[in-house]
Amino acid sequence: MQKKILIEPDPILRQKCEPLEKIDGNAKKLMDDMLETMYAAPGIGLAAIQIGILKRLVVIDISKEKEKRKPIFLVNPEIIYRSKETSVYEEGCLSLPGQFAEVERPAECSVKYIDYFGKEKELKANGLLATCIQHEIDHLNGILFIDYLSKLKKDMIIKKLIKHKKEIERVIV
Ligand code: NI
Repeated sequence: MQKKILIEPDPILRQKCEPLEKIDGNAKKLMDDMLETMYAAPGIGLAAIQIGILKRLVVIDISKEKEKRKPIFLVNPEIIYRSKETSVYEEGCLSLPGQFAEVERPAECSVKYIDYFGKEKELKANGLLATCIQHEIDHLNGILFIDYLSKLKKDMIIKKLIKHKKEIERVIV
């Protein structure tokens, strides 16, 4: 089932998420809902906190074509390596609709996680995937990409989002 994505500013998005204790039917249902919500948005990454669930749970799929979908579920992910070399990507976020900014992050990272089936895994990533993993894991710690920008830029984006949220409410009401 598609869920509503929380939009910044929202205090829930600033919470620190708790580890997922076990992958039971409910957890799988939640992961399925996250995937459906992400594809519908559409986006390439979504953390459970963005739909109001404070668990350390992320889904990512950077494949461009619908036929080649390859989702990765990261349960309790932990970054175990970050390269010194950095790269810059223009980032966006489903919780900050219409807002984009360049963010510098380690170009490569390795992440340890549990997959959809409860198996322990490790993944080494570079390029867009490395940035996406770091962006999503930030969500689990209440961090958004705008936190890396100057106060001026960040305030400007938040102001636009407040206006955007008011407009959405107006349409619904
Ligand atoms: Ni995001």
